[in-house]
Amino acid sequence: MKSSSDFWENKYENDSNYRNLFPYDHVVSTVYTIASKLKRPLKVLELGSGCGNNLLSIPSSIISYGVGLDVSKVACDFASSKDIANRFYFIPHNLLSFPYPLADKKFDLVLDRSCLSLLDKSRFKTVFEHLKGVLDPPFYFYSNPYSDLHSSRPCEGLPISKGSNPGVINAAEAFYYSRNDILDLFSNTIVDLRLCSIDNFTHAQRLLESEWRVLAYVK
Ligand SMILES: C[S@@+](CC[C@H](N)C(=O)[O-])C[C@H]1O[C@@H](n2cnc3c(N)ncnc32)[C@H](O)[C@@H]1O
Repeated sequence: MKSSSDFWENKYENDSNYRNLFPYDHVVSTVYTIASKLKRPLKVLELGSGCGNNLLSIPSSIISYGVGLDVSKVACDFASSKDIANRFYFIPHNLLSFPYPLADKKFDLVLDRSCLSLLDKSRFKTVFEHLKGVLDPPFYFYSNPYSDLHSSRPCEGLPISKGSNPGVINAAEAFYYSRNDILDLFSNTIVDLRLCSIDNFTHAQRLLESEWRVLAYVK
């Protein structure tokens, strides 16, 4: 049986369109918001950093140093090749393998843009608990999981989490988190939780994605 790491390695190897340098706007806004709150450049850890698209676009006045962990070596090598100023370490690593190869334990912000929701909730929880155990607090944790309102969820009609995904993401597996899943995972660390809904974009329904975005603070 093919594992999810085979899936991602193949994807980055064979689909050059998937290797992009476009950052996600909400990730960029989050990074700038935290930098302005802390009034200094940040140290950032991205989980499932792909081609480094979210980190590389941000100037050194906002991110001074960062680490990206991703199961795909092709993606990490691509990201490293674009890191002209040598600010980042892109390290091939499966997030289900503990401990993580982190020389530095102090990060201001940990990013998860649709990586951890490729795991089921109990494994997401294990990753979050691991980070809380090894990183020096305090740190912000931003997560944008695939949601039960996402356009790619494998069901029609009312949004309902269906678990394992045969839908358009086409990963080995993906999960669609609900608001309750998020409350359960982050409970008392949440400082901001919002739903960005397709209901706001009537003429573009099914092209835009509905997503939960959560900012947690671990003290
Ligand atoms: C949907 S992509 C998101 C990439 C990037 N965060 C972005 O915003 O463009 C999911 C990423 O998670 C990585 N990934 C999937 N499972 C992983 C695992 N178990 N450990 C580490 N990375 C993983 C994939 O290789 C892929 O780069």
